[in-house]
Amino acid sequence: MKVLIIYYSRSGHTKSIADMIGKRLGAVTEEVVDHRNRKGLWGFFVSGREAYAKKIIPIEKLKNDISLYDLVIVGTPVWAGNMSSPIRSFLKEYKDKIPRIAFFTTSGGPDTKNIYLEIKQITAQKPVAVINLTNQDIKKQSYLKMVDNFVTSIKENLKDK
Ligand SMILES: Cc1cc2nc3c(=O)[nH]c(=O)nc-3n(C[C@H](O)[C@H](O)[C@H](O)COP(=O)(O)O)c2cc1C
Repeated sequence: MKVLIIYYSRSGHTKSIADMIGKRLGAVTEEVVDHRNRKGLWGFFVSGREAYAKKIIPIEKLKNDISLYDLVIVGTPVWAGNMSSPIRSFLKEYKDKIPRIAFFTTSGGPDTKNIYLEIKQITAQKPVAVINLTNQDIKKQSYLKMVDNFVTSIKENLKDK
């Protein structure tokens, strides 16, 4: 099973989860690169506004060829109740090349329902597995077990691939 993890991370939470899942699955990870300065209060504001407006922004072409993988795991922080704008842009651009999808989010709070619905709409796929890790989960050790369950569920779903 060849797995590619595509993620965006402004402050490092989503990246650390992507790296952890990557190690457990022996997967390749790649961060979506955009050209916005998202630092500081202004960066926070710009990011929240883009996500809320469901904006598509320019992103760099991926280094990896998605069509060579069995599964793409997509990771995003929650911004203003939505997925991050770089990840929305990635999904819109590459949706037809994604063979199977799994999804993880990191957030301040627990409400990620809208994001999962939108991913299903954009990709026209039911994700193999989804998980949300709140900043509280990440602070506590409980997130390790949650990541393990996510990885196990992916392995179970794709064991004949
Ligand atoms: C612009 C912005 C908007 C956010 N909006 C939400 C939100 O609506 N709901 C929520 O639970 N967390 C929200 N957060 C918190 C992030 O989702 C959370 O801290 C996440 O783990 C950050 O991931 P990162 O470190 O990979 O960038 C927001 C953070 C930013 C920067």
